[in-house]
Amino acid sequence: MDFGAVLEAMWPDLKRVEDRLLEETTLEYPLVGDILRGLIGAGGKRLRPLLVLLAARPFNYDLERLIPAAAGIELLHTASLIHDDSIDHAELRRGQPTLNSVLPPEIVIMVGDYMFARSAMLAASTMNPRVLAVFANCLGSICDGQLREIFAARRTDISLDDYQRRIYGKTASLFAGSAEIGAILGGASDAEIDALRRYGGHLGMAFQIVDDVLDLRESTDHIGKPAGHDLRQGTVTLPTMLFLQNRLGDAGSLALVEQVLTDSTPGDHEVTAAVLAIRHSGALEQALDMARQYVDQAREALCEIPAGEARDMLEAVAKYAVQRHF
Ligand code: IPE
Ligand code: IPE
Ligand code: MG
Ligand code: MG
Repeated sequence: MDFGAVLEAMWPDLKRVEDRLLEETTLEYPLVGDILRGLIGAGGKRLRPLLVLLAARPFNYDLERLIPAAAGIELLHTASLIHDDSIDHAELRRGQPTLNSVLPPEIVIMVGDYMFARSAMLAASTMNPRVLAVFANCLGSICDGQLREIFAARRTDISLDDYQRRIYGKTASLFAGSAEIGAILGGASDAEIDALRRYGGHLGMAFQIVDDVLDLRESTDHIGKPAGHDLRQGTVTLPTMLFLQNRLGDAGSLALVEQVLTDSTPGDHEVTAAVLAIRHSGALEQALDMARQYVDQAREALCEIPAGEARDMLEAVAKYAVQRHF
């Protein structure tokens, strides 16, 4: 089974989550509701709600119970993107202008907070304390990961361990939590819940590494968000770390990448040249190898849940995480 077939099979259920999500954007302030609907309506891959649903599917699949949890998780993700784009000064998200590029910061911060609150209200509506605990932990982990990233900015001496902790917090924790929540609501055993949590965590690590590769490999038009942005922001991601630590370029290009990372306002020409140096150095392939190892670990964790169509779908999602182009 491939990822397209998973989406086709799950589309009617995901559509229900989508409808629930759009209900949350009905805000009665000038402009805000429209802009929020623009962000949510512009798509997004909906991977996290898909994980919530799929993780319950091998067990007791009760869609009505799953919808608020899946919508809550996607809204938590949306809120984190609103704040992430403000922090990153990003102007584009899903091919659309970001909230921070059209609204003043005081509104953007508050709308982000409001979306965090609404996502927590959705999670609370499951009336399941274990789900709420996972949700609260995810929220804490995302903040932890984002703070680690902020404090690591413009530092070229960060270790692989620093990077792994940072991306676990900001991204993989929510993938882990999504799968865990689906399994809890499906009534899986503790061992199965744990296996699905590990599956989601490994998948999320692979997913963020690929995001970091795409930032250096693809164009802005293609990914719908500003390409080359990590270097410009001084964020050392895995490909850049491998480039510097394994000295995958000549002395000139190594110095250029260091300079772009440490300069608070690097020029467009320098950023482009640094992106090209990393892109053609083999660093992206090395990073993708590490992402594939995480996908293998995710697939191994799946051995602990019942075989069947749902497990095949979870496996297809894991493979997609490293094959995707946006
Ligand atoms: C973007 O996540 C933020 C990261 C964790 C890399 P997605 O790539 O899932 O974003 P959408 O929801 O599909 O736009
Ligand atoms: C993911 O990191 C941020 C969140 C978890 C919110 P990035 O900063 O790499 O995400 P993009 O590239 O802006 O989507
Ligand atoms: Mg960002
Ligand atoms: Mg990114």
